[in-house]
Amino acid sequence: MGHARTGGRHAAVNGLQWGDEGKGQLVDLLAERHDVIARYNGGNNAGHSVHVGGEKYALHLLPSGILYPDKLNVIGNGVVIDPKGLLEEIDGLQGRDVVIQDNLRISNRAHVVMPWHREEDRLLEVAVAATQGEKRRIGTTGRGIGPCYADKARRSLAIRIIDLVDPKRLAQVVPNVVKIKNRVLKALADAGDATFEALDAAALVEEYTALGARLAPFVTDTGVLLRAADADGRTILFEGANAALLDVDHGTYPYVTSSNCTSLGIYAGTGLPGGHVGSIAGVAKAYTSRVGAGPFPTEIAGDIADHLREVGHEYGTTTGRPRRIGWMDLMALAYTAATSGATELTLTGISVLSGLSEVKLGVGYTLGGSELDTYPANAEDLDAVETVYETLPGFEGDLGDTRSFGDLPSAAQAYVGRIEEVLGVAITRVCVGRRRDQILERA
Ligand code: IMP
Repeated sequence: MGHARTGGRHAAVNGLQWGDEGKGQLVDLLAERHDVIARYNGGNNAGHSVHVGGEKYALHLLPSGILYPDKLNVIGNGVVIDPKGLLEEIDGLQGRDVVIQDNLRISNRAHVVMPWHREEDRLLEVAVAATQGEKRRIGTTGRGIGPCYADKARRSLAIRIIDLVDPKRLAQVVPNVVKIKNRVLKALADAGDATFEALDAAALVEEYTALGARLAPFVTDTGVLLRAADADGRTILFEGANAALLDVDHGTYPYVTSSNCTSLGIYAGTGLPGGHVGSIAGVAKAYTSRVGAGPFPTEIAGDIADHLREVGHEYGTTTGRPRRIGWMDLMALAYTAATSGATELTLTGISVLSGLSEVKLGVGYTLGGSELDTYPANAEDLDAVETVYETLPGFEGDLGDTRSFGDLPSAAQAYVGRIEEVLGVAITRVCVGRRRDQILERA
């Protein structure tokens, strides 16, 4: 069952919904089994919690292998890096005695998220809402991700890590960029009837030169590093940030993030050519959640949604926003399993569904009365579809102590079995809680 392995000893983990599938749990487990852990997309819009010395700690930019001193962690060229955010994470972990030195390498080609990107992110949302209506707001995390990737593609105003760690170059570039950015920000503020504070180039040069100096020891050509690790027979785990339905090319555009979150982003985002990743673990939650705006065909409101939100702690790791809630959507999951090339699936959050008298699975869409056989490319169509549901018996009890798949209530096993059957991809792991020992491995 499932897609054939493509060969290659490296692995990837991809979230297959709109994020918050619980990828972090699987990445933590698999990190132990690989030599190198690499991030290839996104920035500090992503987030997952790890536990260090009994304390919860949120990682946004650091790869999940950072808690293991013997693993090499790579932030690839496809990631957009907010130096302040990254250093806060490094300092936070070092304050808890996690050693971060030779075990972290940052691509010299990665792009830098500057303060103007965050301002542009905020002001563009306000301007779009003011001129096109609230519904057109993307509902971004406000971390400057979209504007930074836009500048990467636009080139003339971009700043890369290699510039950040070169004081002379930074002193030259920043004032020139600021001249244009102050005008752009003013235009956006005017369009949204908002205010903004003009950027001070000299202060920024000083601040970012200092940040660059602190990051410099970690910076290198990570493409060379990863290709060498590959040639030496070491194994690499690629950690996808955000999620497949947020992929800029294949997600629910325009309500997406600005990078290739699926496994398709690995090659461009790290410099390791295609074909080297043999195992792609897709992670999906047994129900669906979404933060931010955009279509959500299986969304539900009311008592069941409120119950699932509370039991599943569905509040954003990065922004704290309450997440929108819905049933599992197999039309979407079949699509993202295919675009990610998932060779196997991990199903999380099954315990959260426990206690419901029945559970629903979205298995198809109709639009204008006709059944769709492909996932709509258009947000308006996706907003207008009717979901076709199958209703299955619910299950009861605290599943958190279950230690093998066969010990789950038979209705829960049947629910997992039905998902597997519809998708045609093996569900090799089922998570009954967020701890390591709550991952039930089936393979
Ligand atoms: P941006 O990435 O900040 O531009 O946000 C674009 C959209 O992606 C918004 O709907 C965000 O809520 C969503 N988003 C971005 N990253 C994540 C993530 O890691 N988990 C969940 N939603 C995310």
